[in-house]
Amino acid sequence: MTRTNHDIRSLLAQAGHYLDPATGAVAPPIHASVTYARDSDYAPMGEYFYTRYGNPNFTPVEDLLAKLDGGAGAMLFASGLAGVAALVELIETGRHIAAPQMMYFGAQAWMQRIARTRGIGLTLFDQAQPGALEAAVRPGETALVWIETPANPTWDVIDIAAAAEVARGAGAMLAVDSTVAPGLTQRPLDLGADYVFHSSTKYLNGHSDATGGVVVTREKDARWEELDTVRKYSGGVPGPFEAWLLLRGLRTLALRWDKACENAMAVARHFRGHPKVEKVAYPGLEDHPGHAIAKKQMTGGFSGMLSLLVAGGYNGANTLARSTRLFVPATSLGGVESLIEHRAVVETPESPTPKNLVRLSCGIETAGDLIADLEQALERV
Ligand SMILES: Cc1ncc(COP(=O)(O)O)c(C=O)c1O
Repeated sequence: MTRTNHDIRSLLAQAGHYLDPATGAVAPPIHASVTYARDSDYAPMGEYFYTRYGNPNFTPVEDLLAKLDGGAGAMLFASGLAGVAALVELIETGRHIAAPQMMYFGAQAWMQRIARTRGIGLTLFDQAQPGALEAAVRPGETALVWIETPANPTWDVIDIAAAAEVARGAGAMLAVDSTVAPGLTQRPLDLGADYVFHSSTKYLNGHSDATGGVVVTREKDARWEELDTVRKYSGGVPGPFEAWLLLRGLRTLALRWDKACENAMAVARHFRGHPKVEKVAYPGLEDHPGHAIAKKQMTGGFSGMLSLLVAGGYNGANTLARSTRLFVPATSLGGVESLIEHRAVVETPESPTPKNLVRLSCGIETAGDLIADLEQALERV
């Protein structure tokens, strides 16, 4: 079949035009084999050797994810955090990392640990303060600028192009956690980032049934080879079935994404000004402090993620999170089912997240049902 330059949405629907070369099957088989035989000349029979080094179920997903983010290559990991840990492993002792105060707390906890144990400097800058990143970097010493935008769970927005300039000026690489904004809306590599990272556990897979992570690179250079070495020898590869599930999930990403964004916008607009809600944090709202930048760098939707700062402090938020009937009270995000979470319960006591913050991950249900559910739950607050 002749392939032309199709839109990424068409490529996603067809899993990157996947056809099994041996049978023509439109869905790939699951290659459970951990090892691959050699021929009579003792040469490898194909391109695979041992699953920790690569597997036929990884390749179509990595190719498709590289296209989605406009990168030169993509690498799958066993979880989002396995990807974060591998990237951070590239940083040498004596060097320095700049990362935001507000970011996925698990990734920050890992950076704090390696800063302690491996003699790496770490500066956490206030992502909401203009000029804070410039002040945090140490030219010649900073090796990695890590940003997450929109930032979980306050949804502060960081200007990716501006951060890329700061990182470049300091001689550092820029990695962007774009988990809540897939390549359909935000493409950090186009804006000057070196790496884009996603927990594929979230929107990319989208069904809350496969843990995974992906790092996409702008260039296939020596550092990319090193990351491959880290993955190979630290062993953070996904299982073939998880890679298979991810490819299957990606087929519907565009539809799921559009509906989640539409639902989040409807919920955000409805609860803005509600007497039991002090603030709605959603970058899609015109009065969000990061809206102008979000509009510039999130060209295909503002995500299905938003937070409500609930009247009545910790107890008010906790009551809301315990009182929904449709929103499921569970951690995680980006799945087809809507989730609600009182973040103060799951984050560490030192976390800067407001104690009355309830995070919502809007799924693909009917917007009216989601709004009615939150309305009835807020009556108990
Ligand atoms: C923004 C973000 N980055 C990274 C991670 C970590 O990903 P995983 O749970 O797949 O290890 C998460 C998980 O919640 C996340 O929300």
